[in-house]
Amino acid sequence: MNAIADIAKMSRRADFPGLPEGWHYLDTAATAQKPQAVIDAIARAYGEDYATVHRGVYRRSADMTIAYEAARQRVARFVNARSSDEIVFVRGATEAINLVAQSWGVSTLKAGDRILLSQLEHHSNIVPWQLLRERTGIEIDVCPLTADGRIDLDAAEAMLTDRHRLVALAHVSNVLGSTLDARRAADLAHRVGAKILIDGCQAVPRMTVDVQALDCDFYVFSGHKLYGPTGIGALWARGELLDAMPPYQGGGSMIDRVTFAATSWAPPPQRFEAGTPNIVGALGLHAAIDYVDAIGLDAIEAHERALVAKARDALSAINSVRLFGPADSAGIVSFAIEGVHPHDIGTILDEEGVAIRAGHHCAQPLMDHLDLPATARASFGIYNDEDDVAALARGIERVTRIFG
Ligand SMILES: Cc1ncc(COP(=O)(O)O)c(C=O)c1O
Repeated sequence: MNAIADIAKMSRRADFPGLPEGWHYLDTAATAQKPQAVIDAIARAYGEDYATVHRGVYRRSADMTIAYEAARQRVARFVNARSSDEIVFVRGATEAINLVAQSWGVSTLKAGDRILLSQLEHHSNIVPWQLLRERTGIEIDVCPLTADGRIDLDAAEAMLTDRHRLVALAHVSNVLGSTLDARRAADLAHRVGAKILIDGCQAVPRMTVDVQALDCDFYVFSGHKLYGPTGIGALWARGELLDAMPPYQGGGSMIDRVTFAATSWAPPPQRFEAGTPNIVGALGLHAAIDYVDAIGLDAIEAHERALVAKARDALSAINSVRLFGPADSAGIVSFAIEGVHPHDIGTILDEEGVAIRAGHHCAQPLMDHLDLPATARASFGIYNDEDDVAALARGIERVTRIFG
């Protein structure tokens, strides 16, 4: 079977009620559309199955508790955690990174300690560390990029010292689609005694992730980019790290015993899930993981890489288009057109039924590095096919005609 037939065969468009005929959704890196299986799971969880978790003595609540914990086990299996106790449900990657910064960071780091980020990080993997810097006096170093837009691990190796306590890097760039050699990054961090946090937001929807094989210490992602609901995501951390971490928020469900004199904490992961959790979100995430796993992450990765290759070919044939990121970028293509603001590109494409993202993509330091205020970004998912690439190319040709 040739590559074109493969792409058409892989596209799951019919599973997605949010994708009407003729609309080309190319903004999956911002958030993925939801398959009917996920919408159904959410409707069931809010409908016939709805009840709270962990507290009820009645059957429905006991069943919901089992379903909520089954979702945790599903996430654990999805990233190959050693135990579901290593999975903390959070609102998303942003909350997960803030949790690590405010719990592990505040309890472990002190003035003069250093952490290493990279030039391409999303703001959610920059600002929490700046807040931590204000609280503790740590120093932040920034790893540069290679010419084709990857985190330069040779530079990281030269920069890391025994004063570094943490390396925190994106597994896949949300702007450039470049993929980190996360295992090498982990080895470099561990060689100087630092921990490593991987921001897996853009990786888990498009490649197999095995936290044990990567040998990382923290791994975070959001459910809504993985075809699941908003408001749910996961922090995976090594069990021994979570055991030693103090709570991030206080309230119900995260305690062992409360008195006015003193309170003791529940063990992880409950210690980090204060309050009534996003029960329905967890069940929706479970359904989303079942959905992508049934297709297979390796097949999804191959599908998106084929689409990216086609998109890069089509766009590079248009003279005024400048492409960013490496040729083998994963699912994401950022570009600019000489003399045209990305917002104008986005608006004209919208008139053509093509939805892309235009802006700084919550990565202003990367925009500074590219010396641009913004880029246009097309990002792919399992529902896209070559029609979407063709519509993108047609739209860009129209942009270049309009702007002469
Ligand atoms: C690489 C990366 N990290 C972190 C985030 C933040 O995710 P969320 O807003 O779901 O917490 C995003 C979202 O765009 C992202 O692409």
